[in-house]
Amino acid sequence: MTDGRPRRAIRSFVLREGRLTAAQERAFSELWPRFGVDWSPGAPLDLAALFGNDRPVVLEIGFGNGESLAEMAERDPERNWLGIEVHRPGVGHLLLEIERRELSNLRVMRHDAVEVLRAGLQPGALDAVQLFFPDPWPKKRHHKRRILSPELVELLARVIRTDGHFHAATDWALYAKQMLAVLDGAHALFENTVGSGAYAPRPASRPLTKFEQRGERLGHPVADLIYRRR
Ligand SMILES: C[S@@+](CC[C@H](N)C(=O)[O-])C[C@H]1O[C@@H](n2cnc3c(N)ncnc32)[C@H](O)[C@@H]1O
Repeated sequence: MTDGRPRRAIRSFVLREGRLTAAQERAFSELWPRFGVDWSPGAPLDLAALFGNDRPVVLEIGFGNGESLAEMAERDPERNWLGIEVHRPGVGHLLLEIERRELSNLRVMRHDAVEVLRAGLQPGALDAVQLFFPDPWPKKRHHKRRILSPELVELLARVIRTDGHFHAATDWALYAKQMLAVLDGAHALFENTVGSGAYAPRPASRPLTKFEQRGERLGHPVADLIYRRR
């Protein structure tokens, strides 16, 4: 604070508004009331009320266009799925996917996921959290924007139940290395499911995402990191 005003938080995204297609516009007016979650900092979400049951909940941070999230929710109807994304066209796209696949176990939030982790969830509320292909922010001066940091790991540890999981994937080798160091470094909170210092084999449960396909074309190998909450 230099001028009396609080310093702006460093965020992991830059909001690009992006144009909505006509179908996405319709999704916001017709589908958001059914599948969208309005939340502003204050009280934490009541997940059982949100889904109408108390099945375990998986949270995905930054789902992009949501195709892979919709596929996972469809394949695993025994769990509830909550996606958080800031990019409006992506949110619109996922709303349309929920309608097309007739999913009743998937809800969507448009918010900064870090804020939701901090104030929007009860301790131990989640069965799992997934973070697939987060923005790598490759320039050194932008590294502070990378979402996976020791602070994020603390927030995750609060909301993931004991024996729940955190799963990250990236095709950015140097970011993968940083993730491994940060997560292995938090060994009092999380256990690397394949042993410290190692990446996990690609689980069949993770569908190929748009960013992963792009990474593959560019010849970037993908690293999966899967941790159990102690
Ligand atoms: C590189 S894209 C990957 C999208 C998707 N997971 C995939 O693999 O195709 C990263 C996404 O994370 C979103 N994002 C970044 N920071 C976020 C935050 N704090 N809260 C919610 N979404 C965020 C961005 O808007 C972007 O769509």
